[in-house]
Amino acid sequence: MTIYNIYTQYVIFYVYPKILQPYSNYQFIDGHLMALSQPQALTNPLDGQQLQRLQSALEGMSPIQLTWAGGYLAGLASQQLQPITTETEAHQSITILFGSESGNARSIAEALAERATSCGYEARLFSMEDYYLRELTKERLVLIVVSTHGEGDPPEGARDLHSYLHGKRAPRLDKLKYAVLGLGDSSYQYFCQTAKEFDNRLHELGAERLLERIDCDVDYQKLSDDWTKKTLDLTKAHLPAQRPKVVKLTTAAAKNPQLCYGRDNPYRTRLLDNQRITGRGAVADVHHLILSIDPEIISYSPGDALGVWFQNDPLLTEEVLSEIGLSGDARISAGEGESSLSDALLRHYELTRLHPALVRGWASLANSDDLSRIITDQARLWAYIQQHQVIDLVSQYPARPSVDEFTGLLHPLQPRLYSISSSQTEFEDEIHLTLCLLQYQALGRRYQGGASGFLVDRLSEDESLNVHLVANPGFRLPSNTDTSIIMIGAGTGVAPYRAFMQQRAIDNKGANWLIFGNRHFHNDFLYQLEWQRYRKAGLLDRIDLAFSRDQSEKIYVQHRVHQNGAELYRWLEKGAHLYLCGARVMGGDVKQALIDVVSEQSGQSPEGAKAYLETLRRQGRFQQDLY
Ligand SMILES: Cc1cc2nc3c(=O)[nH]c(=O)nc-3n(C[C@H](O)[C@H](O)[C@H](O)COP(=O)(O)OP(=O)(O)OC[C@H]3O[C@@H](n4cnc5c(N)ncnc54)[C@H](O)[C@@H]3O)c2cc1C
Ligand SMILES: Cc1cc2nc3c(=O)[nH]c(=O)nc-3n(C[C@H](O)[C@H](O)[C@H](O)COP(=O)(O)O)c2cc1C
Repeated sequence: MTIYNIYTQYVIFYVYPKILQPYSNYQFIDGHLMALSQPQALTNPLDGQQLQRLQSALEGMSPIQLTWAGGYLAGLASQQLQPITTETEAHQSITILFGSESGNARSIAEALAERATSCGYEARLFSMEDYYLRELTKERLVLIVVSTHGEGDPPEGARDLHSYLHGKRAPRLDKLKYAVLGLGDSSYQYFCQTAKEFDNRLHELGAERLLERIDCDVDYQKLSDDWTKKTLDLTKAHLPAQRPKVVKLTTAAAKNPQLCYGRDNPYRTRLLDNQRITGRGAVADVHHLILSIDPEIISYSPGDALGVWFQNDPLLTEEVLSEIGLSGDARISAGEGESSLSDALLRHYELTRLHPALVRGWASLANSDDLSRIITDQARLWAYIQQHQVIDLVSQYPARPSVDEFTGLLHPLQPRLYSISSSQTEFEDEIHLTLCLLQYQALGRRYQGGASGFLVDRLSEDESLNVHLVANPGFRLPSNTDTSIIMIGAGTGVAPYRAFMQQRAIDNKGANWLIFGNRHFHNDFLYQLEWQRYRKAGLLDRIDLAFSRDQSEKIYVQHRVHQNGAELYRWLEKGAHLYLCGARVMGGDVKQALIDVVSEQSGQSPEGAKAYLETLRRQGRFQQDLY
């Protein structure tokens, strides 16, 4: 199904308004889809039910979502207007497929499509999840931009295409030319794994590389720009370009200020409040943070996350400088311009996460047998990376690098993501986060995580920080508010469910069931009073709690899933949507429990139960947000 079809922009701006405008309760004004207050009933070709369904699907959407929905409908309309290609007909256009979770691959793919269009090519742009798999055999040129998530896993939306290509029924693709751009982070063990797998598999299926795959690390901008340029240059030999088009994608951003703010241009917000929400005796230091936003500029939906930019701990920066024997006053160019080394370490470089190139590079400076042994053993290298920070490396294996040698080994500072725990319908000008401070004691010192330390410990109320919204279309409440939901999560995994319930309290229709786990009832029952209020008001139909350390045997959320298997399966059979959020390890255990439950309740084999859950996932009825 076509969802995102840039080359049919003319349809969005010209054809679509003509086809749909007289009939719908949306109108194009200056090229923008605007909601009218009343449906124009006289000319409306939809029957009452259709109109209601359309209205309920569009209800609560932000301007950016409405604009997108406009494009989606236009794509559908254009498909019906255009002659349908036959099996044998090949697409004489570039097809750009992206697989993205936090939007990076998506924005590169969008820029690529925009550039291809302005070079005069027909470019069809799809999120992989919206691409009709069997079209692949008709393609002549496919450009793939894909990130990697989990532990070397495809982004959620890329999974179907990935498994289709890797399955037995994958078609031969001898006529296809393709190029793959991978996005990843080399501090993860399976760097750009998904891009590698797409690239290798397409090659195995007979497709020909237009150019070699590029794997981008966290500082991907330059590499991806070069790849885009090179790819389009090489395209010339394979596809006819029409007359170059002037593409004005900036208009929408000018009209919708939210589009101006993103990862490349973060929004400046302010910390309004920071409250610890775990008890004094709790091991986990979890905080509820409130940030201010201008609702005219920033709009978000339950399920979305926030990208938070942070500064490293000044004490840590000083310590690192003292260990490596460099003066913080040295001048270097970092970020936008020139700054002192200490300022650059504070604002522009990762000082809490290690990655293999850093450890290897440091080994070449440090001249240590122990470190040399670590870097030659992959398992030891990864264990070292996961259990240490930059300060450990530079203090355990002393060296005297130059400023350039040292900063050349560091990764640029990356924003961290946090699930938003509020709904904008309830808190119009605020964003709430539920944040667990990463801290631990080791080797005689106290360590903190970069972002969580900044947000919880170092940022004072009323101080400003940079953030950007990360839409999460794969973690959404059902559009039909009558649908029941089951929310499973542990620890801070409960954050998006608080947003869900605030939204559901307004809609007040479908049944809601929360299965929540943490360590102790007294210390770690996050948002206890709110859940109790929802329960009393009859909004939360069921709540099942798993406090792992309140009794001698450990009880986790997966045990509650097992215990309530019959009821849970009944809900699913009646159409409930299922959500799973929180740490990846917990997610794996819960998924196994769900397989057991479905298998027991339906009498199917574990394989059948897996397929059942997979079908729910494909239908958007089983959504996960694991980190
Ligand atoms: C989609 C998404 C949603 C998320 N939502 C939330 C949320 O709602 N709430 C929330 O709190 N978090 C959430 N997270 C996690 C969050 O993004 C950060 O990963 C987390 O806060 C840690 O980041 P940090 O910068 O504090 O630590 P970092 O600076 O990233 O990590 C510190 C370093 O310490 C090392 N380290 C960690 N523990 C130990 C240890 N015990 N011993 C030795 N070394 C160790 C690690 O290897 C790491 O290199 C989410 C993540 C994603 C992807
Ligand atoms: C929870 C999580 C897991 C990740 N796992 C990997 C991984 O296994 N391998 C890798 O190369 N990158 C990994 N990354 C990094 C992403 O691929 C990288 O941030 C990329 O730019 C994201 O692109 P996207 O926004 O298009 O999804 C991970 C990121 C997150 C947040």
